[in-house]
Amino acid sequence: MKQINSKYFQTKLLLWHTTINNRELPWKEEKNVYFIWLSEIILQQTRAAQGWKYYERFVKAYPTIKDLANAPLEEVYKLWEGLGYYNRCRNLHATAKKIASELNGEFPKTYETIIELKGVGPYTASAIASFAYNLPHAVVDGNVFRVLSRFFGVKEATDSTKGKKLFEKLAANCLTKKSSAIYNQAIMDFGATVCKPDNPLCTTCVMKRKCFAYQNEEVASLPFKEKKVKQRSRWFVYYILSKEEKFAVQERKEKDVWQHLYEFPMQEFASEKEWKNFLKTKDSTLLQSNLFTKNSRLLGITKIVSQKLSHQTIYAAAVLASLPSTKTKAHLQFEWKTVAQLKKLPFPRIIHLLFNNKVLELFAQVV
Ligand code: ADE
Repeated sequence: MKQINSKYFQTKLLLWHTTINNRELPWKEEKNVYFIWLSEIILQQTRAAQGWKYYERFVKAYPTIKDLANAPLEEVYKLWEGLGYYNRCRNLHATAKKIASELNGEFPKTYETIIELKGVGPYTASAIASFAYNLPHAVVDGNVFRVLSRFFGVKEATDSTKGKKLFEKLAANCLTKKSSAIYNQAIMDFGATVCKPDNPLCTTCVMKRKCFAYQNEEVASLPFKEKKVKQRSRWFVYYILSKEEKFAVQERKEKDVWQHLYEFPMQEFASEKEWKNFLKTKDSTLLQSNLFTKNSRLLGITKIVSQKLSHQTIYAAAVLASLPSTKTKAHLQFEWKTVAQLKKLPFPRIIHLLFNNKVLELFAQVV
């Protein structure tokens, strides 16, 4: 690592922010701590462009923390639908309830009390403390790792204990303590729009003269991680069962992806081969699952869709069938909902993808 010259870095970053940066975001300059917290929870593991419409949706539906606290959890999940990492949504609601009931609706005012809140880690606590109260806490996330490791030439893995400590110290050193809100927003925007992971805008960058990575042609190799994230694949078949204009659904209860969202009865296959063979079988053999009785009627099978998550890719197709009105195992095992009720339930994105976002219209045609 080269000699730390944080003065140059700070000056250039803040100058860039006030003269060149024109990134518009709906939560910028916001002083209402509830909206700041809301935006930061939405933006965890989410790009600003994707978070934007969710933020606006939440602000409109729940203008105060008490409105959010009083909303039914299922309604909040429905607004969150498609944003992923659904634990964030559960924590958001639980925290709103806690603040409304135990803290008289008053958001905590120090870093130490903010970080106690469910769903708030060091990054989010620093963001809230600085944006709302201008407290001197530097944000450290993927954007910050990238900017600092490239500019200062930090060659420590960002996921190692040593690396994390080093980056935290460096970030705290670079923070302009009297203007931490501006500094934190500047480094976030700089990492997202100039010092990007791919195709960074080095040739027009205001710091290129002293940027270690640029000067040493190491931009593409910084920052780096110790461990490679393993991607695994999973293969699902959903059964869309209709009976007397109702559909079988279940809540995903296990500690797995999409916990607490709803889905249609589902079978997971151990391998792509088994799954493909199953989907190739013709007609009534698809109905061999014990969910069906003799009089079940196969209505069709959808095309295959996939959804890439952070550590896994999920492939899915759905078998559509109508069941006789007599009671079967499936009648007892699942919740049966009308189309109007289904519209209010939160589903994973893959279920919307299966039907090209027209899941309910398709039901109306096949039943
Ligand atoms: N990512 C997390 N917080 C952000 C913010 N306040 N602005 C832009 N991107 C962000």
